[in-house]
Amino acid sequence: MIDCDPGVDDAIALLLAFASPELDVRGVTTVAGNVSLEQATRNAGHVLDLVGAPAALPLVAGLAGPVSGAVRIPDEPMHGVGGLGGLPVPDGPRRPTAGNAVDWLAERALAEPGVLTLLAIGPLSNVAALLDRHPQAGPALREIVVMGGAAHAQGNVTPAAEFNFHADPEAAHRVLTSGAAVRVVGLDVTRAALFPGAAAERLAALPGAAGVAGALLCGFVARYQERYGVAAVPVHDALAVAAVTHPGLLGWEAGEAGVECAGELTRGALVADLRRPERSRDVEIALRVDADAFTALLTERLAGYAGR
Ligand code: BDR
Ligand code: CA
Repeated sequence: MIDCDPGVDDAIALLLAFASPELDVRGVTTVAGNVSLEQATRNAGHVLDLVGAPAALPLVAGLAGPVSGAVRIPDEPMHGVGGLGGLPVPDGPRRPTAGNAVDWLAERALAEPGVLTLLAIGPLSNVAALLDRHPQAGPALREIVVMGGAAHAQGNVTPAAEFNFHADPEAAHRVLTSGAAVRVVGLDVTRAALFPGAAAERLAALPGAAGVAGALLCGFVARYQERYGVAAVPVHDALAVAAVTHPGLLGWEAGEAGVECAGELTRGALVADLRRPERSRDVEIALRVDADAFTALLTERLAGYAGR
């Protein structure tokens, strides 16, 4: 189950997930983050059309803002107009499933205890609400894999905080301290696995959804280059997909972690205590990545859409 807020890298993550034979995606839920909840749901639906997902695949909208505090949708040039780099999102036949993401996730988790992974690649509002409203559901999940935070690296919204954790710090703290099996893929590794602009250009020349993925990545690279002067981009959320399909691509460290909810300068910061893994292994955090292997995996699987 994939909880997302597309977002260019969420879109690439969905493309990777649906091209990954290791996965059986049961449904997609949406949350406000990079864009409003409504736009995130439209964007996710469009990507599901692009990958040829079955019409009956659940697409369920969740929370329209953080679990506490006001909704703050970024004026976010990194993801471009509408969240997908200006890609037109036609009003297709796919409609969101009735109901809300929080209850849907709980129902699915409880129906197959110990089986399902929840991959959360947006703010953790839906996941925190799930843990609060359905206390049996967290332990019923096989694991929760989260894209968010920066354990040692600097943040990308403030020097201390990464976007998904900064967007809803109370939710992120709730999830990381819940006792559920949580793995965290943060900026420590996503920034160490930049996807090269040249590879994006080669994908953009391919037909079909491969070319769309390439065009999305080219725009993402251009905006990243303008801001940081590097012709390569972290495809954060896609690396979190790879953490599920190929956990060995990443080096993991175990410990305890929480998210700062009060600090004036540090609100949204991931605070990880990895000093005594023998005492606590609540959370695993990725600190190393095989960047070349990830680039090869993502390139190969996105290019595969050209032949579909
Ligand atoms: C995270 O923030 C969002 O902008 C991206 O989609 C990703 O989930 C990276 O900090
Ligand atoms: Ca995201």
